[in-house]
Amino acid sequence: MNIFVTGGTGYIGSNTCVKLIEAGHNVIVADNFYNSMPEVLDQIKIITGKTVKFYETDLLDAEGLDKIFEENEIDCVIHFAGYKAVGESCQKPLKYYNNNITGTLNLLFSMRNHNVKKIVFSSSATVYGNPETVPICEDAPLSTTNPYGSTKLFIENILKDISKSDEEFSISILRYFNPIGADKSGYLGDNPVGIPNNLMPYIVKVAKGELSCLNVFGNDYDTHDGTGVRDYVHVSDLADAHIKAVEYIADKKGCFVHNIGTGVGYSVLDIVKTFEKVNNIKIPYKITPRRPGDIATCFANPEKAKKELSFTAKLSLEDMCRDSWNYAKDK
Ligand code: UD1
Repeated sequence: MNIFVTGGTGYIGSNTCVKLIEAGHNVIVADNFYNSMPEVLDQIKIITGKTVKFYETDLLDAEGLDKIFEENEIDCVIHFAGYKAVGESCQKPLKYYNNNITGTLNLLFSMRNHNVKKIVFSSSATVYGNPETVPICEDAPLSTTNPYGSTKLFIENILKDISKSDEEFSISILRYFNPIGADKSGYLGDNPVGIPNNLMPYIVKVAKGELSCLNVFGNDYDTHDGTGVRDYVHVSDLADAHIKAVEYIADKKGCFVHNIGTGVGYSVLDIVKTFEKVNNIKIPYKITPRRPGDIATCFANPEKAKKELSFTAKLSLEDMCRDSWNYAKDK
């Protein structure tokens, strides 16, 4: 299939491009390098031996986007492009609503103009807000606690409405839990600019000596060691889930929602200990107050993805910690 990947040089997008190419698909990428580097395209080529067709295009550029659809016979879209920093979204909500929502609307208009009716959307477990129970099933109540999360939920709702209005559409919504890890080649991983917000990129900077110590945000949660529990999923497994989603909607109409996680929750200190063990590096940490907006525990019920997409995460927490470090150590 000819698959158009928005945000294809980003962390999850680039890992997914590799898997798509390995599965025999033809990949067309658009990215504006807001949070990624042109070198990623070379790295995809080194890993796969194939060059992806690339457009340096912003989704806010509706004409530029339309041109991509004019020049390529696109069968399916995978939509990653979007801003993703929770804290920044609270400071600059308009920036987030404009980029994530307007960008998606432009994409959907281009799809309509060119009669493309298959899309896989990169959503997040953030749409479950503060979950009442875990493990979380796809039919759990939805709510958000920040503008970033709201953009994900709005886009889900837009896609559901499109599906209701046009039964020819095939839509897959993947709700990711916490992606970490990197391609085993050491080329494609998470390399955020500045001081990281998320746990694994922060640990990696401490391991490199660029930051002195990890702040563990609270040890008084109702969890096995008091620190926050999350469902960490290896980015290569997550990338595989997109291949399964593309295959799933290839011959089905409608809008389908799946959790992508392992179904297992690990605490912040579990991550620190595993990282230290597999990489043989000490991670100094101190306990600090809870981060506002954080929840105690969040992990997926992954059964729907297993049953319907035949997707099961295969890689362990050890793999995730080893591959994150293998990627980041020389950056
Ligand atoms: C956040 C987003 C989620 C997004 C994910 C990955 C929300 C509420 N959360 O999830 O949508 O998919 O990032 O981009 O929208 N922690 C520390 N010290 C740190 C950093 C984190 O102790 O320096 C702890 C946190 O308190 C939490 C765990 O580590 O318990 C994971 O945090 P993080 O990696 O930021 O992910 P989430 O907040 O779960």
